[in-house]
Amino acid sequence: MEQMKFVLIGCGRIATLHVAGYQNRSEAVLWGVYDKNPQTARRFAAEHSIAKVYDSYEAVLNDPDVTGVELLVPHHLHCEMTLAACRAKKHVSVQKPMALCLSECDEMILAAKENGVVLKVFENFVHYPPYLQLKKMIEDGEIGNLLGVRYKMCNASLYSENQPGANARAKRAGLEKTANCPHTGWKVDPASWLWRLNDSLCGGGPAVFDDGYHKFSLFMDLGGEIEKVCAWIDETPALPGVMQDMPAVIMWKYKDKKVYGVWDVTSAPDLYVKGKYYTCDERLEVTGTRGVLWLTRCTAQMLENVAPVVLYRDGKLTEFWDAPSDWQDSFIRSSHDFIESIRDGRKPILTGERGREVLAFALAALCSSEQKKEIHLDEMLDRKKKKPRGILSSFFRKQT
Ligand SMILES: NC(=O)c1ccc[n+]([C@@H]2O[C@H](COP(=O)([O-])OP(=O)(O)OC[C@H]3O[C@@H](n4cnc5c(N)ncnc54)[C@H](O)[C@@H]3O)[C@@H](O)[C@H]2O)c1
Repeated sequence: MEQMKFVLIGCGRIATLHVAGYQNRSEAVLWGVYDKNPQTARRFAAEHSIAKVYDSYEAVLNDPDVTGVELLVPHHLHCEMTLAACRAKKHVSVQKPMALCLSECDEMILAAKENGVVLKVFENFVHYPPYLQLKKMIEDGEIGNLLGVRYKMCNASLYSENQPGANARAKRAGLEKTANCPHTGWKVDPASWLWRLNDSLCGGGPAVFDDGYHKFSLFMDLGGEIEKVCAWIDETPALPGVMQDMPAVIMWKYKDKKVYGVWDVTSAPDLYVKGKYYTCDERLEVTGTRGVLWLTRCTAQMLENVAPVVLYRDGKLTEFWDAPSDWQDSFIRSSHDFIESIRDGRKPILTGERGREVLAFALAALCSSEQKKEIHLDEMLDRKKKKPRGILSSFFRKQT
């Protein structure tokens, strides 16, 4: 088999975690990159020893050597870039959320079908090895029948390199005199946050809609189809006059069973969380008729001395340390799924159809909070795609 050649489109923050999945694969190679900022693309290619830097998206799509693309760009570009790739007969992995609204998902699914290419939604949490271990234990009956799901997510800021100004804010608050902690997390360019704070480019807020897509995906993966959702999504200023969608509480009921879930989202400006990536702490608790399972981390490592998976059953607590638990491991597995789905002519684990279902769940939560009522997924109407607006969007219109 001829080696398949892949190109990353967008060389921003997350692109760094899309490289390792192509290493040591005989059937696939990370062949090239393209970013609308040529300097960014050149720097990224040099850092990761990637052979080719393209000077336009059209050049990538016109190159007969290219097998597929991974779209790692802001959300408002996902649909149009996917459609163009499908028409050029390139396989597509599009980062989450696959689109801004359900009608865009329909167009993308149809385009992939009509052109006979794979459409994969790149969502890594369902590929996180400790999560897969927990899921297998549930399937094997370790905790009996599933009764309830609880998820906790907390964005922590103290000494985090993620947020511009976090260190200056801690200093102003006098926290550096009391907290003896090293800087934590990876550096995130302010431009990487800016488009997320604009609803018309991001599709929703940075916590519940953007990062939240992972959680909606995981909840469906764990318990199946969703019947209804009820959410409170509040606002906190991220910048003067620009709001982020936290704190929030989202509740849901699974279809055809009396199983409910609760997810709470908080942001703690003075909390210190250890982590190599985003300093976002996540914990999952699953209760069954016979036992309880915990997943103690995913992105960050607040509970680093606790096993990634913990089981309580019959009065006994058992820790499971065997699964690789670095967040990057979930990206590697997700990239492998893309490569192997093309190689083996099978569907990826997260298809366009599944990506649409997850998006409907996320949009239902947003609608529930806006309309102050529970939303049944089968009555879910599409949310209109918003027109770019405001100071930030005019800035981005010039850029994209
Ligand atoms: N799986 C995860 O955990 C995870 C984490 C972060 C981001 N993401 C997703 O990855 C995608 C990118 O996010 P990010 O944080 O890397 O954003 P980013 O802003 O850091 O990077 C985006 C890159 O895309 C480039 N770009 C913008 N318009 C372009 C165009 N028309 N053509 C080519 N390049 C263009 C920008 O120059 C930038 O380098 C988003 O879909 C986001 O939701 C996923």
